[in-house]
This record gives sequence, C-alpha cells and structure tokens, in this order.
Amino acid sequence: MISIVGVGPGHPDFLTFAAVKRIKEADLLIGAKRHLELFLDLRCEKIAFDSEVDLCRLLKKKGRIVILASGDPGIYGILDTVLKYAGERDVEVLPGISAFQYMLAKLKLPAKETAVLSMHGRKVDIVPAVKKYKVVVVFTDSQNTPQKIAQTLLLNKIADRIIHVGENLSYDCEKIKTYKLEELASSEENFQLNLVVIEKCGSMDSESPTSFF
Ligand SMILES: C[S@@+](CC[C@H](N)C(=O)[O-])C[C@H]1O[C@@H](n2cnc3c(N)ncnc32)[C@H](O)[C@@H]1O
Repeated sequence: MISIVGVGPGHPDFLTFAAVKRIKEADLLIGAKRHLELFLDLRCEKIAFDSEVDLCRLLKKKGRIVILASGDPGIYGILDTVLKYAGERDVEVLPGISAFQYMLAKLKLPAKETAVLSMHGRKVDIVPAVKKYKVVVVFTDSQNTPQKIAQTLLLNKIADRIIHVGENLSYDCEKIKTYKLEELASSEENFQLNLVVIEKCGSMDSESPTSFF
C-alpha cells in the first residue's frame, strides 16, 4: 500500500489524527526534508527525495510506504506524480489542510469568488483569473516571486488590488503582510516559503464560484 498523506502547512499542530496514525504505521517514510523533520522520533526508514526519478525508484520498495505531502496532496501537489509511478499498487490519499486554506483563514476571507492557481514550477498567465475573481490565491516559487506577481499586474494595468503575502505559514516564524502593488513590485525583500493572495479593493459586480486552474 502507498499512502499519500497531507501534512498541512508545516507545523505539527495542523496534522490530522488520521495522518499521524498512518505515518506511525509506515515501514518507509518518503518526503521533503522539512516534512521528514516533523517525525524525527519515528524509527522507520526515512528518505528525502528531490526528483521524480528518485520517487519512481522508491515506490518499487516493499512494505507500507507513506509519502508526506505539503498541504493537501491533491491541490497542486504530488498526487498525480505518485499515480503515474505507482503501477499496480494500491494508493490511498489522506488530505491535509492546504496552505491556501490556512492563509484564507488567517485573513478571515471566505473562499467564495476565489480562484486558486499555482506558479510553483509552472508558467501560468494569472491575469485572466485576476480580472474575473475577487480573490486569487497563487502558490509561488523562487522564480515566480510576490514581486514578479505585483509587476505583472501593474504591466497589465490592473491597479485596484492589494496583495497579501503569507510567509512560512503556521511556523513560529510566520509572517503575513499586506502590500499595495507599487510597494511590493519594488520591494527588495527576500521572501522565504510563501504564497500570495490578490484581493480586489471594493466589491465585484457578479458572483463566481471558487475555481482551481
Ligand atoms: C507545490 S505547492 C503545494 C501546495 C500544497 N499541495 C497545499 O495544498 O498547500 C507548494 C507551494 O505551496 C505554498 N506553501 C506550502 N506550504 C507553505 C507554507 N507553510 N507557507 C507558505 N506557503 C506555503 C508555497 O507557495 C509553495 O511553493
């Protein structure tokens, strides 16, 4: 059995009981270093992986394999990659709290008229979604930074937005800050693990449902 277990935004307080139970039963724990560090006291085999090649090889191992996934594995996560390499083996998915859910909760923003996009390792044109939705959440990476996102909006003459940047969410060093577009576009801050929420100032004319792209 291969279990893909969402561990939430990162702090152990946001792990589900189901996740902890399954992780304790594992023969092999696979995950990013920051996720494996949550389980230093467990004695099973642990392997940090960096690439799809690693994952493909590791999934051929015997026993109960648990893959630790950031947030919810199905939300721009590792789920489809694991399914690609799992072969005939049974796969189960245990969802966790997504970093985007955590951030919206912190901002007290209900997830309506909201789109969720990912620029993590992908090229995505966020402009159409920003024009359509009142709230747009964007997962970022080291190339697609909060500054680049603010610059893109300004280049496209979208001015009536503010951007909330959520950094190291749920960890003790969490930082959530709200910026005007010009301020963020020219900021020299070196943001660590983060996502952004682009919010329209004022109200929208029409209601649109929550969407994932
Ligand atoms: C590949 S996506 C995975 C999203 C994940 N499946 C989820 O549901 O949260 C990874 C991105 O999520 C965001 N992220 C994950 N954990 C975070 C955290 N603790 N604080 C801020 N952003 C986080 C970052 O934008 C990161 O680059």
